[in-house]
Amino acid sequence: MNSKQKKYNRLIHQLEPLLKNSPSLNAQLATINALLYHKVPYIFWVGFYFIKNDELIVGPYQGPLACQVLTKPKGVCWASVLKSEPIIVADVEDFPDHIACDSRSKSEIVIPVKDTSGKVVGVLDIDSDKTEQFDRDDLAGLSGILNLINKKFL
Ligand code: SME
Repeated sequence: MNSKQKKYNRLIHQLEPLLKNSPSLNAQLATINALLYHKVPYIFWVGFYFIKNDELIVGPYQGPLACQVLTKPKGVCWASVLKSEPIIVADVEDFPDHIACDSRSKSEIVIPVKDTSGKVVGVLDIDSDKTEQFDRDDLAGLSGILNLINKKFL
């Protein structure tokens, strides 16, 4: 097991009891953001966007100020929603449609958040201020974290 895998295992272990007893969706998302932001050194911004009236509206996040509304279909987050698949962008300059909420963001990973029926209701979006920071180990670890969300709140 490599160091990223070990790190995510530790985070999942720490989050499991916290999220199990969490009283709301916001409480769960805020807890996930706080842990990721403060424990994963290459994360520059972490947060959630949720679909409302055909727009993506920002939810809880940690990091610099972000766009509040992402207009369909532009950007990495919408691409992930529309494909219903995670997207890893090694260098945001190579993603023509990328929305730069902060010019310091250089690489990004976006993972759909699904309700109990499998419908995409939003995304987890994470940016780094360095290129090529996210890989399949981040995807696996972050997917494990999203699986801990109590979906009765979605
Ligand atoms: N880069 C995203 C927008 C959200 S920020 O990264 C916080 C996108 O292209 O959809």
